[in-house]
Amino acid sequence: METPSAAAAACCCPRRPLQPPSRLLLLLSLLLSALCLRPGLGLYTVNTVYGDAIILPCHLEVPNDLRFGKWKYEMANKASEFIAFRSATKKTVQYDDVLEYKDRLNLSENYTLSISNARISDEKRFVCMLVTEDNVFEQPTVVKVFKQPSQPEIISRATFLETEQLKTLGECISQDGYPKGNLTWFKNGVVLQPTEEAVINEQTKVNQTTGLYTVISSLEYKPTKDDTNAQFTCSVTYFGPTGQETIRSESVAFDIHYPTEKVKIQVLTERNTIKEGDNITLKCSGNGNPPPQEFFFYIPGEPDPIRSSSLYVLTDVRRNATGEYRCSLTDESLMDSTIITVHYLDLSLTPSGEVIKQIGEALPVSCTISSSRNATVFWMKDNTRMRASPSFSSLQYQDAGNYICETTLQEVEGLKKRQILTLIVEGKPQIKMTKRTSTDGSYKMIACHVEGFPKPAVQWTSSGGVINKTEETKYVNGKFISKIKIAPEENVTLTCIAENQLERTVTSLNVSAISIPESDEPEEKSDDNRENVNDQAKLIVGIVVGLLLAALIAGVAYWLYMKKSKDVNGESQKEAAQNIQTLPRQESYFFMSASKHVDKDLGNIEENKKLEENNHKSEA
Ligand SMILES: *[C@@H]1O[C@H](CO)[C@@H](O)[C@H](O)[C@H]1NC(C)=O
Ligand SMILES: *[C@@H]1O[C@H](CO)[C@@H](O)[C@H](O)[C@H]1NC(C)=O
Ligand SMILES: *[C@@H]1O[C@H](CO)[C@@H](O)[C@H](O)[C@H]1NC(C)=O
Ligand SMILES: *[C@@H]1O[C@H](CO)[C@@H](O)[C@H](O)[C@H]1NC(C)=O
Ligand SMILES: *[C@@H]1O[C@H](CO)[C@@H](O)[C@H](O)[C@H]1NC(C)=O
Ligand SMILES: *[C@@H]1O[C@H](CO)[C@@H](O)[C@H](O)[C@H]1NC(C)=O
Ligand SMILES: *[C@@H]1O[C@H](CO)[C@@H](O)[C@H](O)[C@H]1NC(C)=O
Ligand SMILES: *[C@@H]1O[C@H](CO)[C@@H](O)[C@H](O)[C@H]1NC(C)=O
Ligand SMILES: *[C@@H]1O[C@H](CO)[C@@H](O)[C@H](O)[C@H]1NC(C)=O
Ligand SMILES: *[C@@H]1O[C@H](CO)[C@@H](O)[C@H](O)[C@H]1NC(C)=O
Repeated sequence: METPSAAAAACCCPRRPLQPPSRLLLLLSLLLSALCLRPGLGLYTVNTVYGDAIILPCHLEVPNDLRFGKWKYEMANKASEFIAFRSATKKTVQYDDVLEYKDRLNLSENYTLSISNARISDEKRFVCMLVTEDNVFEQPTVVKVFKQPSQPEIISRATFLETEQLKTLGECISQDGYPKGNLTWFKNGVVLQPTEEAVINEQTKVNQTTGLYTVISSLEYKPTKDDTNAQFTCSVTYFGPTGQETIRSESVAFDIHYPTEKVKIQVLTERNTIKEGDNITLKCSGNGNPPPQEFFFYIPGEPDPIRSSSLYVLTDVRRNATGEYRCSLTDESLMDSTIITVHYLDLSLTPSGEVIKQIGEALPVSCTISSSRNATVFWMKDNTRMRASPSFSSLQYQDAGNYICETTLQEVEGLKKRQILTLIVEGKPQIKMTKRTSTDGSYKMIACHVEGFPKPAVQWTSSGGVINKTEETKYVNGKFISKIKIAPEENVTLTCIAENQLERTVTSLNVSAISIPESDEPEEKSDDNRENVNDQAKLIVGIVVGLLLAALIAGVAYWLYMKKSKDVNGESQKEAAQNIQTLPRQESYFFMSASKHVDKDLGNIEENKKLEENNHKSEA
């Protein structure tokens, strides 16, 4: 291959033999030839790629009287060696018996010599000789052979590097180049200059067979943490036929190991507050590379540290788990700590559950709280918020119900406690009987006021028969009223019987016939006949006295009545009859002709008056 520079040289360089020209021309020629001079003194240079054919034109004008042409090569300090011959007259070619060029030469008719399969050893000075009868012309050509080296590769790579330690990172190798190339290391594209942190050693090997160079550059490197992910490359710089070239290697990154400088303990929980029963996961970590795998955990209450992986789990923690938790590297060099507070909330309600008490009894209730923070307490009775906590000095029926004492810790999600008191207030049946005469006097309304829990069953009897047409009010707070309407034809005794699991209570009331102007028997009896013997005795005395008084008053009253309302009775009596409880047959109807009566039991006068007034209103 003939380079452009060689072509340029052809035009400016004189050939041998020099004809004697003028002195000026000679000077000019020398000057020009000096410009063309190359190392190796060749005037022509042929650059050839290793393995290609070397084409060596003769560069001499073929004279007319040429006898033959010859090629030889010259080497420093050695005799020149002829390798090819062509006879101009016989047109024959002969190749000399030179081992190195055996079967590689081809000398064409125009005396161009071609050498196949260029080798490094072909870097010589070849000379073309044309010989005439009386002259010899010579023209030397220098052969240069180039071989591109292989792409550099980083081999013998370290699996990891350590900070503060000079370690072989790897070797950069570029094989079989010619002429010898240079290797350069780069970090993140910047040339790595040899320093204390980067020690570079280059080595060159020559293959004795081929004469090609293999260059190896080892790099010892002391990295810093910042070299994590740094890209290392190397390149080979070499001369090719057309000048300097560079080939880069693939880039390589290295795992940089560095020690832990800080240990951190973390509490991994679902919520940001911890309460009793929660699981706590402690996580310990170090910032080294590779990260430490094992730690010591220091748990409150544990005398010795616990060796564990980076996670340590505490299950179902109690309040006594509150405290300082620490972790360290297993050499105990670095440590971190954190405080954990396990929140708790205790509620104690006394009494609680189902409590049965008798009416009138006292019941102290307490709901006490113990907690890790200030907790708020509130009370509910039958799903209604209460203003204050309950306390009973004397239980009433309305006190019965479901009491809930509940508390929450606002700051701690899900921490809530409650206890229930189901209070049952029991009482024996209590009876109070009242009677009232309708405005028109046509019937009487007898009421049996019953109190007691569990709800007493009420039964009415009149002298002899059972009365079952009763009206009952709602049972509220242990009370209700059972009522009957009657219009007795003669004096009757009505009995109200109330009975629950605790007791059977019976009370009677004498009701006078309705038609006869009367002075009623004591209208109200709330006493239990069997129990109150003493009271009955007193009552009898009272009645005797009362009867005397009543007789007197009744006389006056009857007289007044007869005088005033002789004409009123007829109509209202008919009306009232429709609403009246039918009494057994033998008690024939007598309608009381008086709309007012005088009560002998002085204690009940007021109450009956009120009832009467109410009756007036409701009938109006
Ligand atoms: C030499 O080269 C010529 C022309 O290129 C070719 O014809 C001939 O075969 C070659 N001779 C040898 C021995 O290779
Ligand atoms: C000489 O001959 C060879 C092969 O025959 C040819 O390739 C080449 O161009 C010729 N060179 C000159 C200078 O004529
Ligand atoms: C030299 O190169 C030849 C051909 O490529 C090869 O077979 C041989 O192993 C090489 N020798 C050395 C020492 O590398
Ligand atoms: C290789 O390095 C040497 C010394 O630094 C220098 O002289 C030479 O020119 C370099 N070769 C290439 C191909 O860069
Ligand atoms: C705590 O962990 C145990 C298993 O270790 C699991 O059975 C339990 O449900 C967990 N408790 C909570 C509150 O997550
Ligand atoms: C914490 O209390 C629980 C019972 O509530 C007990 O089993 C455990 O041993 C206690 N732990 C410590 C460290 O005192
Ligand atoms: C808790 O209650 C105490 C006493 O009632 C009070 O001094 C304290 O400030 C409260 N703390 C909080 C966090 O409310
Ligand atoms: C009242 O009781 C009697 C006798 O027990 C019964 O025959 C009658 O059906 C009852 N009447 C009502 C309304 O319950
Ligand atoms: C009914 O009782 C009244 C007094 O309460 C009495 O005066 C009257 O004689 C009694 N009548 C009968 C029929 O017993
Ligand atoms: C009701 O009258 C009868 C007589 O008819 C008498 O024996 C009884 O004591 C009276 N009862 C009451 C509660 O007054």
